[in-house]
Amino acid sequence: MKLKNRKMLLGVSGGIACYKSLEIVRGIREAGGSVSVVMTRSAMEFVKPLVFQTLSENPVATSLFSLEEESKIGHIKLSENADAMLVAPATANIIAKMAHGIADDYLTTAYLACSAPVFVAPAMNHHMWDHPALQDNLALLVKRNLHIIHPGSGYLACGSYGTGRMAEPGEIVTVLEDYFDRITTGEQAEKPLNNIRVLVTAGPTRERIDAVRFLSNDSSGKMGYALAEKCRQLGADVILISGPTALSPPVDIETIQVKSALEMYSAVMANSEQAQVIIKAAAVSDFRVETPNPQKTKKSERMTLELVKNPDILKTLGDRKTSNQFLVGFAAESQNVLYYAEQKLKEKNLDLIVANNILQKDAGFDVDTNRVLLIDGDGSIDLPLLSKEVVAGRILDHIMATDKFRSIMATKLKNAPSA
Ligand code: PMT
Repeated sequence: MKLKNRKMLLGVSGGIACYKSLEIVRGIREAGGSVSVVMTRSAMEFVKPLVFQTLSENPVATSLFSLEEESKIGHIKLSENADAMLVAPATANIIAKMAHGIADDYLTTAYLACSAPVFVAPAMNHHMWDHPALQDNLALLVKRNLHIIHPGSGYLACGSYGTGRMAEPGEIVTVLEDYFDRITTGEQAEKPLNNIRVLVTAGPTRERIDAVRFLSNDSSGKMGYALAEKCRQLGADVILISGPTALSPPVDIETIQVKSALEMYSAVMANSEQAQVIIKAAAVSDFRVETPNPQKTKKSERMTLELVKNPDILKTLGDRKTSNQFLVGFAAESQNVLYYAEQKLKEKNLDLIVANNILQKDAGFDVDTNRVLLIDGDGSIDLPLLSKEVVAGRILDHIMATDKFRSIMATKLKNAPSA
């Protein structure tokens, strides 16, 4: 009952994902919270207010100018009473209005009147999601400390494939639960990673064969980007070093784009000394072509590539690690996951290793979910299937609970200049 006695204000805007918001209402109530729903006119084209009213057991607000509704609920009262507001689905239109302070209906007016934390779960066509106008509006919301629950990728209602599908209801409820969990332990209030510099690596590397071909892997960067985003939300000063991905660079995070393992090695080495926490989620190619052809190699019956070993970035970091650095590696395994991950933990002198079985369809490379083992000197913890955003939160919770991290934090505070 992680949302016990929490009052949620759910804003529903008009998209096909509206039907999923019914599951969100159910999930919040099952977690002990109560929900008041506000719907836009377009949302009512998809789902009738009566359905939300029945599931929430609260009146649904739809019109600012309804004498009856306003006398019963009142948009200011709704916002004042809420412990958090969630807009799900959030269409491109509602995101634009929220970003620019347009208050022309019940939902947008309630949003402006709301001083509680606001969560936004976008849902739209992938071209709309990629559009710079939408991304700029989202960036404004992030700057104002709204929490964006990123959409997943897959087949969209419009028939195309890409990013834009609203996060699953269970995942959205988990994000709310995790947030209130932290509030309860007092961590969120003081931003537990304040003053901490975190370096995250993400995505694949590309090793050139010739002018048009390269060797790479299936990493989408989602796991690493989710970690960088979570660190930023927790107050860290984040630097993200990313291989080539289709993801938009995260808002408010210093991002260095690299291509090859050698470039990633240089960028990491140049930025690691200042970092107290280093998380290596990137899938670095172990080998590179010894002499890439600067031209396009002509077709022939056979082609032989001479590969040489790339430097092991994580091992180098482990060898140079100071007592004020917390080093986290990932292990992408296809068999004997625990055994091989434990070996990497020791050989690379890590404080924590996050192991995933990359043969599982819903975990590892290029999916929105992951199922990981957290392994350190104290043993291993098996996490269930979760979205990569939630996995990122759990990894950080684990790091922050260790004695080593607490001691790094204590040293940081001791050395901080007094005000
Ligand atoms: O990007 P996504 O699509 O979201 O997928 C996420 C992921 C599957 C890429 C991620 O969860 C993951 O497992 N990342 C590590 C992938 C990997 O390279 O694993 P590995 O077991 O081969 O390497 C172990 C560790 O050494 C990793 O932290 C890796 O970054 C590091 N390494 C490896 C080789 C090398 N030359 N230098 C390194 O630093």
